[in-house]
Amino acid sequence: MKTILITGAAGFIGSNLAQALVSDNKIIGFDNVNYYYDVNLKEHRLLQLQSYENFTFIKGDLADKHVVDSIFELYKPDIVVNLAAQAGVRYSIDNPQAYIDSNLIGFFNILEACRNYPVDHLVYASSSSVYGSNKKVPYATDDQVDNPVSLYAATKKSNELMAHAYSKLYDIPATGLRFFTVYGPAGRPDMAYFKFTNKLVKGEKIQIYNYGDMYRDFTYIDDIVTGVVNVMNKAPEPNEDGVRYKVYNIGNNSPESLMDFVNTLEDKLMKYGIINSVADKELLPMQPGDVYQTYADVSELEKDFGFKPSTSLDEGLDRFAKWYREYYKVGGDK
Ligand SMILES: NC(=O)c1ccc[n+]([C@@H]2O[C@H](COP(=O)([O-])OP(=O)(O)OC[C@H]3O[C@@H](n4cnc5c(N)ncnc54)[C@H](O)[C@@H]3O)[C@@H](O)[C@H]2O)c1
Repeated sequence: MKTILITGAAGFIGSNLAQALVSDNKIIGFDNVNYYYDVNLKEHRLLQLQSYENFTFIKGDLADKHVVDSIFELYKPDIVVNLAAQAGVRYSIDNPQAYIDSNLIGFFNILEACRNYPVDHLVYASSSSVYGSNKKVPYATDDQVDNPVSLYAATKKSNELMAHAYSKLYDIPATGLRFFTVYGPAGRPDMAYFKFTNKLVKGEKIQIYNYGDMYRDFTYIDDIVTGVVNVMNKAPEPNEDGVRYKVYNIGNNSPESLMDFVNTLEDKLMKYGIINSVADKELLPMQPGDVYQTYADVSELEKDFGFKPSTSLDEGLDRFAKWYREYYKVGGDK
């Protein structure tokens, strides 16, 4: 049985990862349970984990070096999966400090702790946003990504650089995962599919940016979890420079247009009786920090793990709508 530290365990991806691992491993979940979005949802996710004997939850801030060190000292994790971060592109325009504290100082504290309490593998969340306005598609991990278009993206790229330096200097096996628009049941209310749903339920108009001309590689949560588990269990071999360091994309490898996505979402919400009619749509220009499209090249992931995400948007949004109906007690009985 391995001891796995999951930071961001009350978060969307962290809680699903902990669920997948808790039967066979000792999970230390860490999270500051902040108010970036509805805390009830974070508590709901934690509640489902707290019934497991193998799950220990510690509430604390990644930017607090003392707390992070004390967790490593006490539990000596074999594997660390760092998912805690200030997420969101648009929020970083108005709240830059949160990204410096959680994503830079917090990640530095994780790296220092891995240096002082050696681990078998450090896996950490990066993001498709590092590709900025990359023109070439699909996005591959050997594309040059030196032109971030948001502070969020800049912190995620920094994480990859910081991890490389620590891997090289202190021989810490480290893998960065660039996630592409993750969605699913009990997902993040700050993300478009969830915000649209909340508005549709209230009969409000929805805002569609870049006049609907945007593409996203929507990736279902279970595919992300399978990807993380595969990667986590196999630390990278030394590369040509002798550094045990890797970065992978985890994305659906099939971008969908924003308009198709909204239509599918509306169909699913109608199917479950959550809404009765489609919404008015307000078409607006592109928002600062946003990108035209995301599209993951997952050939490296396939080559090294024989796996790539495969859940269709139709299936994924169906499960989201079903969950939404049950969680918020709205809609019919279908
Ligand atoms: N969901 C996506 O589409 C997506 C895409 C790309 C990358 N990512 C990255 O994946 C990771 C997980 O994302 P998610 O969607 O589960 O986000 P989330 O916001 O649901 O989860 C992050 C969790 O980290 C916690 N947290 C934030 N700052 C903290 C701090 N300083 N100390 C302790 N805990 C802190 C939050 O309370 C939250 O519960 C993040 O690093 C995010 O940037 C997510």
